Amino acid sequence: MSAVPSLRHLLLLRPRLRFIALSTSSSPFLSYAPSHHFSPSSLRVLSSSSSPTLTQEEADEAVGKGSSLIDVNPPRGTRDFPPDDMRLRNWLFQNFREISRILSFEEVDFPVLESEALFIRKAGEEITQQLYNFEDKGGRRVVLRPEITPSLARLVIKQGKSVSLPLKWFTIGQCWRYERMTRGRRREHYQWNMDIFGVSKVRGEAELIQAIVLLFERLGINSSDVGIRVSSRKVLQAVLQMYAIPDNLFTQVCVIVDKLGKITREEIEKELLSLGVSIQAVNGIIEVLSLKSLSKLEEVLGSEEEAVSELKKLFSLAESYGYADWICFDASVVRGLAYYTGIVFEAFDREGKLRAICGGGRYDRLLSTFGSEDIPACGFGFGDAVIVELLKDKGLLPDLAHRVDDIVFPLDEVLDGTASRIASSLRKKGRSVDLVEDKRLKWVFKHAERIGASRLILVGNSEWERGAVRVKNLSTREEFEVKIDELV
Ligand code: HAM
Repeated sequence: MSAVPSLRHLLLLRPRLRFIALSTSSSPFLSYAPSHHFSPSSLRVLSSSSSPTLTQEEADEAVGKGSSLIDVNPPRGTRDFPPDDMRLRNWLFQNFREISRILSFEEVDFPVLESEALFIRKAGEEITQQLYNFEDKGGRRVVLRPEITPSLARLVIKQGKSVSLPLKWFTIGQCWRYERMTRGRRREHYQWNMDIFGVSKVRGEAELIQAIVLLFERLGINSSDVGIRVSSRKVLQAVLQMYAIPDNLFTQVCVIVDKLGKITREEIEKELLSLGVSIQAVNGIIEVLSLKSLSKLEEVLGSEEEAVSELKKLFSLAESYGYADWICFDASVVRGLAYYTGIVFEAFDREGKLRAICGGGRYDRLLSTFGSEDIPACGFGFGDAVIVELLKDKGLLPDLAHRVDDIVFPLDEVLDGTASRIASSLRKKGRSVDLVEDKRLKWVFKHAERIGASRLILVGNSEWERGAVRVKNLSTREEFEVKIDELV
């Protein structure tokens, strides 16, 4: 084994050729590009708007200096994903995918651009007032989808009899809502959806809730951090029947009472009264919605009521699955979407700082609103923003550094071809290799540290004459001369 040349020796040997400082780039963007570090604290773009960007003052100053700098921020409420943030997003999505795989769901995907007709609903839901909708160049009314469930229903209808039920599908996709922004609420977000078609029993909901709980556990969140509130729209349906309120008002009543806690009780009353609901019924609805125990609900509605028996079945299944401590009955959970027909649920942080982490429920009659035969269905949507806020609060964000296996660095320009061959051969063996040139050795060492490389492979003239390279193991700091064909 030959003596290792000193760093100084290598620096002297290294021809100072073609060194171009990035900061001298003529692009107006690069000179303002934020620098990224690899600590979890910088992984914040998924949830907040605080990624390091040019301030308005800096932008004004740049424009004042005569450069034609455009606004480098993405549109309000939307996000860029620089590498650190992209790693976090990929990590989260890998967890979504892994849980879906464990539950035996298949992945599907849809266009973000959908026809507007799919999202036109008349129940006065907030979501339909937040549409990014427009006419395309062919005069068609289109939307950037605010949610994925209608696309899913469209595909189920399109596949018709060719699909065998039950089908269990998951998807991860971007959704757009022109939303008032709060912590964890954005104008675009990614949603993980898991949906089951063809299961009418509460087994469907029980499976979905297990997926959510498994995901939380996988991320390090426990049942003292997060709970899942569960109720059923059939509770409200039963109350409406008690007061002889016509069925056709059911959806609108659901959408109104979902606002409980968001607007005042007086405003809710006013909206219900204007629908034609009597004041006695309004009081009855609000009273039932304040129930937090299943036995109380049973007292009010009777044990024969479907809402009661289904909820009881779900809670007993939860015991068998082993997630009973995660769920609680809360009659005020109605969810804001018009199409839910049965059990509804949402995950919340027990400190009460954040909006719903995820939400879903049963929607057995969505397909008929699109003119098709109904199939029982249930599912949930789980956004990427609130969960990251929660992980941040709990100190559970992972440390996701950029990692490569090897850096290959030719010490002389004439060895560029050799370095390429070495990099190529290592890559073919599956190692991640960063081939670096036109840098000083000092920079290469720093770079290796920054990207957590495990080996530095120096391709130098004297070693190359012996058919070898110098390999530095960056964790043990040992150096060896290794024959090229023995390099693995
Ligand atoms: P959703 O309750 O409107 O339901 O949204 C589901 C989840 O998406 C929310 O709990 C939240 O995590 C996330 N989310 C929604 N809007 C935003 C936003 N503006 N910014 C950040 N995150 C957001 C649905 O969308 C249903 N389609 C879910 C479903 C699937 N039901 C049955 N299958």
